[in-house]
Amino acid sequence: MDTQFVARERARLLRELTEFLAIPSISALPSHAADCRRAAQWLITDLERLGCAKVELLEGNGHPVVWAESPKVEGAPTLLIYGHYDVQPVDPLDEWNSPPFEATVRDGKLYARGTADDKGQVFCLLRAYEAILDANQRPPLNVHFIFEGEEECGGHAIDELLEKEPERTKADAALVCDMNYYAPGLPAVYTALRGMCYAEISMRTLQRDLHSGTYGGVAPNAIEELVRLLADLKDASGKIAIPKLYKSVIKPSKAELRDWNRLPFKKKEYLREEVTAKALTGLKKYSTFERTWALPTFEIHGIKGGFVGEGAKTVIPAAATAKVSLRLVPGLPFKQVAAWLARAVKQRTPKYATTEVKILHGGDPVQVDVNHPAFGPLDAAFKEVVGKPAVRVRAGGSIPIIPRLGTMGAPVLLTGIGLPDDGLHSPNEKLDLQQLWDGIVVFGRFMELFAATKPA
Ligand code: BES
Ligand code: MN
Repeated sequence: MDTQFVARERARLLRELTEFLAIPSISALPSHAADCRRAAQWLITDLERLGCAKVELLEGNGHPVVWAESPKVEGAPTLLIYGHYDVQPVDPLDEWNSPPFEATVRDGKLYARGTADDKGQVFCLLRAYEAILDANQRPPLNVHFIFEGEEECGGHAIDELLEKEPERTKADAALVCDMNYYAPGLPAVYTALRGMCYAEISMRTLQRDLHSGTYGGVAPNAIEELVRLLADLKDASGKIAIPKLYKSVIKPSKAELRDWNRLPFKKKEYLREEVTAKALTGLKKYSTFERTWALPTFEIHGIKGGFVGEGAKTVIPAAATAKVSLRLVPGLPFKQVAAWLARAVKQRTPKYATTEVKILHGGDPVQVDVNHPAFGPLDAAFKEVVGKPAVRVRAGGSIPIIPRLGTMGAPVLLTGIGLPDDGLHSPNEKLDLQQLWDGIVVFGRFMELFAATKPA
């Protein structure tokens, strides 16, 4: 590849990425639908400029999917590149040290929403591809690009597309760059991602809100009943009250546990710098890695109901709603867990109340066989550029479409250029610029090395 590419083009690259990041493509907010489209369009323009033979904006139910194919190279393997152009909302806005959509460099780090998750990483792969093109804009392998705009909001457009057209995932490998190094200087590939079951639980106890003096003492309070139910779904030890959940978990192998034991891990710093709490909670007999990578979770994201305005209002709320989710590990399919959750809620609903469980979205957990030969070129590229092959870890997070990327047999290479302290979904999300510059060379070299392997 053109090894001087980054050194020569740095200023332009920073300008281009800043332009991409300036588009507030927040997929969860309907008011930003046009911005999501603009971000998709930005990618289309970029892919056309890179000389792709086919570039398509695929319309479905929701934000569009971007598809592109490099000029065909007979006899060379095909790499499918996945990423997402949508970002998380930015609130709380007043905690940002610079505006979330005006990318700002401070101390070698680029701050903006989407720098690490995932626009900066998508940009990294596009520039890596640019760096391996010859003078006629031809790459040494076949690259198919698929970028979605609903990863962060649980949308179904890409899932529906790939269900109808699974042959789009036919490739010799799929590369997903939406994760982080295990630690500075220690790149990672992921052997598993957690799945997700996201639900809204509504509780109703009355037909309308009541005076809390006149009826206090006899009328059932919807918030009280809801929080009792929620608290009962997970006890203080961290155990989720769905017994089948734990029985179905496929335990990590001995080899995997041994790998995790060898990872550098400073619990005190992790607690203070990353978690920012006074103590860790959760199932005591399992390690931090087991709890965040190999066990299911139950989290309450928010509760709505009653009176939360200024001042005081004496009312007994008639209805309340909670947003909750379970993270799922191998052995726990989304549909199965959704049914268990609905049943656990029904069982705990008092006779004098009604509940409803609405599943908002979900996805199955993923397990990857990282011994597949496609991981060889990736390790080699990391070794060349960063000095170390990738460590094998799991992720606590989820990417709902990943199971589908593998259905035609492509091994899914889950990796990334982020660092653990990038602040995904938080105020002041950032990407270290050196990670980006190195990443462009890593993935450029990976594509070249992969190009030299035999297609299936
Ligand atoms: N990039 C993250 C997932 C991730 C982060 C994986 C860090 C591994 C390490 C992704 O964009 C994300 O945040 N996904 C959501 C999906 C959810 C909305 C279904 C998540 O995990 O909450
Ligand atoms: Mn992401």
